[in-house]
Amino acid sequence: MLSKRIEAICNRQVEREGYSSNLYLAMASWAENQGLTGVAGWFYVQSDEERVHMLKFIKYINERGGQSIIPDFKKPPVDYKNVEEAFNEVLKHEQFITASINEIVSLTLEEKDYNTNHFLQWFVMEQNEEEASAQAIIDKLKLGGKNHLYVFDKDIMLLRGTASKEQAAT
Ligand SMILES: [Fe+2]
Ligand SMILES: [Fe+2]
Repeated sequence: MLSKRIEAICNRQVEREGYSSNLYLAMASWAENQGLTGVAGWFYVQSDEERVHMLKFIKYINERGGQSIIPDFKKPPVDYKNVEEAFNEVLKHEQFITASINEIVSLTLEEKDYNTNHFLQWFVMEQNEEEASAQAIIDKLKLGGKNHLYVFDKDIMLLRGTASKEQAAT
């Protein structure tokens, strides 16, 4: 059975993962309007993944005797100056999510809730990948991708999961 504090902080994460999904959906829509079909595709897939993260929390809370609450979601930003600005926002947002997951991990240790701690380990690893993958895209843009948006847009889907493969290889 979840403690009230763990239930509440996991419900906070339901909201944050759901917001992440909407944030990336809004970015997908923005990119699609710019004619950046590849970038839009990357964001649509990312948005679906965040929805799956939200569902993992919803199901975990309910399974452990708590009650998942589906909240209101804040409206995400509509426009970005350019692709770099959008991906800088992705990295900032993922760093915020990492801190948020780590805060829950700390609370599980404080409360000796080892089940929730175990459940969270998947998210701890996932956040490594999320930050590395946003950083890899920002690096490619710095390498000149922003001057060759046509090629960058065509290739961006090839970057999915590259960072984690590189990590696994080292
Ligand atoms: Fe997530
Ligand atoms: Fe994420």
